[in-house]
Amino acid sequence: MKILVMNGPNLNMLGIREPDIYGKSTYADLCEMIEAHCKEKGVEAEIYQSNYEGDLVTKIQKALGVFDGIVINPAAYTHTSVALLDALKAVAIPAVEVHISDVSKREGFRSISFVREYCFATIAGHGFAGYTEAIDLLLNMPEKRI
Ligand code: DQA
Repeated sequence: MKILVMNGPNLNMLGIREPDIYGKSTYADLCEMIEAHCKEKGVEAEIYQSNYEGDLVTKIQKALGVFDGIVINPAAYTHTSVALLDALKAVAIPAVEVHISDVSKREGFRSISFVREYCFATIAGHGFAGYTEAIDLLLNMPEKRI
């Protein structure tokens, strides 16, 4: 059971960036929470963050044959990236989309998500807890592919 947790641009700035929207906890706090949850569930996880679209695409490509599930918060690339959608489709690894904030209640452009077409679930507006919920969704997939 191996899960890749991916974070896109500016999520390394959690705790500093727009605390009214994303909270005061840091990216390190997020990683710690995910690691603790995975340990509790007996899941092996890798947490990855990049500010570069191409790096995120390459990471998804390299997940093939290595990871059984992907949790992805593409951050701003959610609203722009066909490349991330195509990469997910290419590897066909079950994936859940996560957003810390409720993107449906913000600017109109944040309601657009390219990866949503591929991901079997989206969790938005649950704060950091969205990541652990996404991991649990992957663990409880009806297909039991993990
Ligand atoms: C985000 C929402 C995006 O619109 C934004 O660009 C982000 C973070 C979220 O987690 O709420 O960087 O994905």
